[in-house]
Amino acid sequence: MASYSFLGVTVSFIFIITYAFANDTLHFPKDFLLGTATASYQIEGAWNESGKGESIWDEYTHNRPNFIRDHSTGDVACDSYHKYKEDVQLLSNLKVDFYRFSISWPRVLPTGYANVINREGINYYKNLINELLAKGIEPFVTLYHWDHPEIFEKMGGWTNEMMVEWISDYARVIFKELGPKVKYFITINEAAVFCDEGYGRNDKAPGKNLGSTGKYLCMHNALKAHAKIYHIYDEEFRKPGDKIGIDAACSGAIAKHLNDTTAIDLHFQFHCGWAVHPIFSKTGDYPEVMKTHIAENSRLDGYPRSLLPKFSPTWVNYIKGTSDFFALNHYTSVRVETVPREEGQRWYQFSGVKESLDPSWPGSASSWLKVVPQGFREIINKIAKEYDNPPLYIMENGFSDECCTSDHSRISYLHSYIKAMLLAIYEDGCNVKGYTIWSFLDNFEWLAGYTERFGLVYVNFTDSQRTRTPKLSFNWYKHIIETRKLTSTFDSPTVINVA
Ligand SMILES: *[C@@H]1O[C@H](CO)[C@@H](O)[C@H](O)[C@H]1NC(C)=O
Ligand SMILES: *[C@@H]1O[C@H](CO)[C@@H](O)[C@H](O)[C@H]1NC(C)=O
Ligand SMILES: *[C@@H]1O[C@H](CO)[C@@H](O)[C@H](O)[C@H]1NC(C)=O
Repeated sequence: MASYSFLGVTVSFIFIITYAFANDTLHFPKDFLLGTATASYQIEGAWNESGKGESIWDEYTHNRPNFIRDHSTGDVACDSYHKYKEDVQLLSNLKVDFYRFSISWPRVLPTGYANVINREGINYYKNLINELLAKGIEPFVTLYHWDHPEIFEKMGGWTNEMMVEWISDYARVIFKELGPKVKYFITINEAAVFCDEGYGRNDKAPGKNLGSTGKYLCMHNALKAHAKIYHIYDEEFRKPGDKIGIDAACSGAIAKHLNDTTAIDLHFQFHCGWAVHPIFSKTGDYPEVMKTHIAENSRLDGYPRSLLPKFSPTWVNYIKGTSDFFALNHYTSVRVETVPREEGQRWYQFSGVKESLDPSWPGSASSWLKVVPQGFREIINKIAKEYDNPPLYIMENGFSDECCTSDHSRISYLHSYIKAMLLAIYEDGCNVKGYTIWSFLDNFEWLAGYTERFGLVYVNFTDSQRTRTPKLSFNWYKHIIETRKLTSTFDSPTVINVA
């Protein structure tokens, strides 16, 4: 990755020069929240300890090692199940306002069903929450970050509508046990990602590879499940000031041809609108353009009905409005262009939009992650425009590399993206309330195993102690949190010496 490191240094230098001359300083709004995030399967380890049941990611990594780039598993991962006190101490040193983490459903309910509650599992999360609160860090709890019990996958997982009931039962247990000390809940993380990559394709567990039918059915049930969990919370558990919402991954889109604004909108509706229009729009249901395009393409392909399932008016109303905030995960952008329909099943042939990457965009350790900060500002604006400027929490944003604690490229990326977000707030009037760096720790990056590192903290995965070392970006972010303003710290002696 020599060329990549070279690029990182180049980018750093550009920022040093730009900011030395511009003397730019941007403050965060009052009450703006700054935090960092992880997910259970990616950090906890202890996959078979203390009464935990099997998740779809345990099943996938154990039985399909060849699909994981380094043939690794999350059996131990960062061992955060045992090292949570050290983790919270690091979070306290970082001075974050909140910590976003997720609950492992099979750790709490080993049979999957709510008939048996594993006290050791519940106590792990109670201890973690108590430890955070004792250090003044707000827990931001995700109920579902992809690791559902394997038993339900054997019955079709998210393609089975019974998931709506099963996950609601689980949510009720969590609200009852942990709710009293938690103000912020996220129901489901990135439904479009696990539905497309886990059910439509084989790029995430459970790797069902069911094409468009499986993908759309998965989302249909995930939206119903989200709405049901929201109503349960709203009716039975909500305390004054609490917030609960869904999390969506929306990448940015840059038109390949200057005049092609149609491509940008179609890309948005098919990737982001698919998961959020039913919740955040005034009309509810899937975006109109998705319904018509998929119905027409299904007809041309000879299907007796649209591959996109239909919501009844009762479900449309039940789902609409079920989120107190818009949780956005955003990393990168793609270049888009409208193309005519061709034979086949590829997603862009339904949407009519072809995606590509601009070779001039700086890269990361992940093939899909290019550095395009203007795409971040544009997607924040698009969401504000489409859904009447909802309160927006950036719940994931981050950069991958392959090594090292001198992570200048990560600092460059974060600086440019945070700046784009602040411009969306101050110059465009967007209602952004919080920002989260993915990730707190280097961790198990799904099918990339441990080959792509996103952490502010370096984790040594060959060391049985899983030793943690804060990276330069950790100190850089800490400085931002302390000062509540985005200043360039590239003129700090450490950074200049290393560069
Ligand atoms: C748990 O899994 C590990 C492999 O990760 C294995 O060595 C160990 O024996 C298992 N423990 C139990 C109690 O099954
Ligand atoms: C945009 O302009 C290009 C080149 O002039 C043309 O080929 C294309 O059809 C136009 N696209 C749209 C959506 O108008
Ligand atoms: C990681 O830990 C191993 C085993 O303790 C050690 O040999 C190695 O030097 C460590 N690597 C780094 C980068 O600290």
